[in-house]
Amino acid sequence: MTIKTIQGTHDILPGDVELWQRIENATRRIFPRYGFAEIRTPIFEWTELFSRGIGVATDIVQKEMYSLPGSKGRSMTLRPEGTAPVVRSYLQHKLGHSGKIERLYYIGQMFRHERPQKGRYRQFHQIGAEVIGSESPAMEAEVLHMLTRLLSELGLDDFRIVVNSVGDTHCRPNYLEILQRSLKPLIGDFCNQCQSRTKTNPLRILDCKVTTCQELIKKLPKLSDSLCDDCITHHQELLSWLDEYGIDYHLDETLVRGLDYYIRTTFEIITDQLGPTQNALLGGGRYDGLSELLGGPRAPGYGFALGLERLVLLLSGRDNLKTKYTSPRPQIFLAHLDDGALRYCVNLAAELRDQGIHVLVDYEGRSLKSQMKLSNRLGSDVTCVIGETEITSGRLVLRRMRDGKEIPAEISKTGKTLLELIS
Ligand code: HAM
Repeated sequence: MTIKTIQGTHDILPGDVELWQRIENATRRIFPRYGFAEIRTPIFEWTELFSRGIGVATDIVQKEMYSLPGSKGRSMTLRPEGTAPVVRSYLQHKLGHSGKIERLYYIGQMFRHERPQKGRYRQFHQIGAEVIGSESPAMEAEVLHMLTRLLSELGLDDFRIVVNSVGDTHCRPNYLEILQRSLKPLIGDFCNQCQSRTKTNPLRILDCKVTTCQELIKKLPKLSDSLCDDCITHHQELLSWLDEYGIDYHLDETLVRGLDYYIRTTFEIITDQLGPTQNALLGGGRYDGLSELLGGPRAPGYGFALGLERLVLLLSGRDNLKTKYTSPRPQIFLAHLDDGALRYCVNLAAELRDQGIHVLVDYEGRSLKSQMKLSNRLGSDVTCVIGETEITSGRLVLRRMRDGKEIPAEISKTGKTLLELIS
C-alpha cells in the first residue's frame, strides 16, 4: 500500500500553488504599504507560550495542540496560531524599544488537532498581522482597511465584517458574574459543550452555533450593557473610524472568539459561501494583556489571522483566477547526437541559464528523433541539435519551432541570437 498524506493535511500541487502565490504576493505587496514588515517565527515553541497566551480553558489548549516532549521533559508544541509567537519574539528581541510601534505580518503553517472537514484542517496556513504598541481605534480601522484592500485586489467582495467589544479586565469580570447568575436556571437546556463551558469559559457560550442554544442566548444579559465607559468610548471611536474609511460593518454581540487573550475589539470577516460552521475567513482583535501574560511589560496589541485554505476555497472556483497547470516551457531544447555532445550541451545549458534562459537537455538516452519529438511536445520555442560538427566549428543552427525558421548562431552568442529569434 502506498503512503498517503495524514488526515487533515494536504499537498498543494503545481496548478494550485499559483493561486497561493498570487495571494501571498498580493499580501507582500499590500501590507508594507501599511507599514508591515514580515516576521518568521519557529514552527514549534514551548507549550507554555500557548497555554499562558491563548488560555488554559480554550479548546485549542485543552484538546487541539500537537505537543511533544522537549529537553529535560519540557513540553514543546507545534504552533496552533501566530499571535503568541509574534509577541514572544517582540519581547525576546526588544522590538518595541523606545516606544516604537511594531507592525509585523507572517505567512505560515499552523497545527490544530481538529475534526477535519471542508475549511477545517489539522495543518493549515494563516496570513496574520499584528500591531504591537498602539491602543488606537483608528489603527484598528486602518488594519481592517488593509484587509478590504487585500480581498478586493483578489477579486473578493461578498464578505461581511463583523465587530464587537468583549470589554476589558475592569468590566468583563462584572459581566461574567451577571452571566453566570442568568445561566443558572437555563443551563440544563443548553448543549453539553455549553454546560461544561459554564465552569471553564462561560463567555464562549455566547457564540455557540447550536440552534437551540442560540435561542437561549437571546435571553441572556447583553455584554454591551456591562461595558465600562472606556470600553464604550473605544468601541464607538472604532466605529466612527470605520465610517471614516467607508468600511461597512455589522455589530454582533455574540462575537467573543475562541482565544482568551482578547479585550475590547473582536472582529471577523465572514462569508456564507464557506458553510454555516466554518464561515469565518479571518478573525482577530485586541490583546492588550498578552505581553504581560508572557512575562513582558505592558504592550497593547491588535491583529488578525486569515485562513489561507478558506480563502483559496473561495477563490479557486472563480474563472478569472483559474490557472491551468502547464509545466514551464523551455525557451531552448538542446538535443545531442552522442555522449560527447551531451557533455557539451550540459555546459552550454549552464551558461544559458546563467543568462536567465530556460533550457532543457535530455538525459534519458533518447534518439535524436525522440528528442525532437519531446522538444515539440514540451512546446519549446527553439530546438538546437549539437554534435561533433557544431562543437569543432563553434557554430550551430537554431530552429524556431513555431514556423521551422532556422538561423545560424555562434556558440558564444547563442543566448543573444536565441532571444532575438524568439522576441
Ligand atoms: P483564529 O480565529 O483561531 O484566530 O484563526 C484565524 C483564522 O484561521 C480563522 O478565521 C480561519 O480562517 C483559520 N483557521 C483556524 N483554524 C483553522 C483550521 N483548523 N483549518 C483551517 N483554517 C483555520 C487566530 O488564530 C488568532 N491568532 C488571530 C489573531 C491575530 N488575533 C489577533 N491577532
